[in-house]
Amino acid sequence: MSRLRQALATLVALAVAALAFVAWAPVPAVDDREAAAPLAPDAAQAARGAQLALAGNCAGCHTERGGAPYAGGRGIETPFGTVVAGNLTPDPATGLGRWTAGEFRRALQHGVSRDGRLLVPAFPYTSFTQVTRDDADALWAHLRSLPPVQQAKRPHALRWPYGSDLALRVWRALYFRPGTTPADPAQSAEWNRGAYLVRGLGHCEACHARRDALGGIRGAAALQGGRLPQGWYAPSLTDATEAGVADWPIDEVVRLLRTGLSEHGTAQGPMAEVVVRSTQHLAEADLRAVAVYLRSLPVTTSRPGRSGARDPQVMARGQALYADLCRGCHGDEGQGAPGVYPALAGSRMVTMADTTNLLRVITQGGFAPATAANPRPYGMPPFDLGHADLAALMTWLRATWGHDASPVSEVQVLTAR
Ligand code: HEC
Ligand code: HEC
Ligand code: HEC
Repeated sequence: MSRLRQALATLVALAVAALAFVAWAPVPAVDDREAAAPLAPDAAQAARGAQLALAGNCAGCHTERGGAPYAGGRGIETPFGTVVAGNLTPDPATGLGRWTAGEFRRALQHGVSRDGRLLVPAFPYTSFTQVTRDDADALWAHLRSLPPVQQAKRPHALRWPYGSDLALRVWRALYFRPGTTPADPAQSAEWNRGAYLVRGLGHCEACHARRDALGGIRGAAALQGGRLPQGWYAPSLTDATEAGVADWPIDEVVRLLRTGLSEHGTAQGPMAEVVVRSTQHLAEADLRAVAVYLRSLPVTTSRPGRSGARDPQVMARGQALYADLCRGCHGDEGQGAPGVYPALAGSRMVTMADTTNLLRVITQGGFAPATAANPRPYGMPPFDLGHADLAALMTWLRATWGHDASPVSEVQVLTAR
């Protein structure tokens, strides 16, 4: 007993010491070396910055639906509440008009606002910390070149204590390691470029990472699949049964990121938005670099789905529903129609251990992204089915055409909805 008490006391003392340490650790200073000779943005630099802003999808978060580009106001859902991305236009009162290049770099690379306030990591500075000084300055030149828009920022709606200075300090001490990762000399320049785009500007891990209870990402979990608060699952980029592309040809990966379509499935939901707003605009060489990097990721074995017994009655019900509702588009053998209806036979969205996306597509329908390469995508209508029907349909889809994925129960459907 006394040993336990002693251990507890030690733990508490350690926790207090750690807290004191993080609470008083200084915020990184602004590197304003160019303050004496202010950065003179030129058109070429701003144009390069505009391209980088597409790679980082800055406008995606910093633009309200129907609002002026970069003027902010969009709420980003997190498990801890909603945070609002602010105004990045050069308006002096409500945007970045009074900021210096150094202050901007510090925000991007260290997650600290102009006034020293710590920023919420829904702003993916844990990835943007990789951005080089040159690229940060080009992004800055691009933002300076935008027309100023006066639009005050709405406050965040985060539950206490998330978002408090102390909570953010603790979070940063646990999860944030600022600085760029040096290029890996053992790899090609193309691979290193891909790593920079995926792990840095492209912030793929903002969605594709498995996060712990505090929303933190630990090393290896970075691209291994994560649940999104808006009710999607961003599958693992290292797992061949999820979104891994190790065995895809490079051109197929490029095609997915450029058009939203591939032999193996379409980009949906939040990924469709990434394709529309960001990856479709990247230069061919950059997309190839991303593909080279993704294909090189060490493959992880998937969590095996529990393959339970399948109730013949449930299977018959699922088959009948498919014949009624789905076969017309997706075909007798789930083969789809190339470029029009995706194949369900072999679709990873159908067989993945996590059935969030499958359920979501059936009940809410959807569109592949409308991209320059595929301007008028075909849509899938939503289906208003009961829990038992959904479970039966999914169970059947997951056990047909050579699939052998775990059955889906009514309870699973109920909790998922
Ligand atoms: C996933 C959504 C998301 C993306 C992508 C994103 N941001 Fe943000 N950004 C935010 C949020 C949310 C905040 C607000 C954080 C806060 O106030 O604590 C923010 C804050 C900022 C700030 C600080 C503003 C201030 O007033 O302190 C800057 C600067 C910024 N973002 C620049 C960028 C740039 C440049 C890019 C593209 C390279 C970018 N952001 C991409 C969500 C995003
Ligand atoms: C805003 C969240 C978000 C971001 C950021 C994001 N993804 Fe995704 N991604 C998803 C979701 C959700 C899915 C599952 C839906 C689907 O299959 O399209 C997905 C699916 C994928 C797939 C599998 C597509 C298929 O049909 O098999 C690949 C590959 C992928 N993402 C790559 C990337 C890369 C590379 C990046 C960074 C450049 C990235 N994602 C950034 C949310 C995101
Ligand atoms: C009117 C034609 C149509 C019908 C009917 C239809 N779908 Fe679809 N489905 C589509 C189209 C088009 C897409 C691609 C658009 C998208 O990505 O949302 C799609 C996509 C899907 C996907 C995503 C596949 C992947 O790998 O990306 C699944 C799963 C799916 N449908 C299942 C079903 C099921 C189950 C039914 C019956 C309940 C059904 N669909 C009925 C047209 C249809």
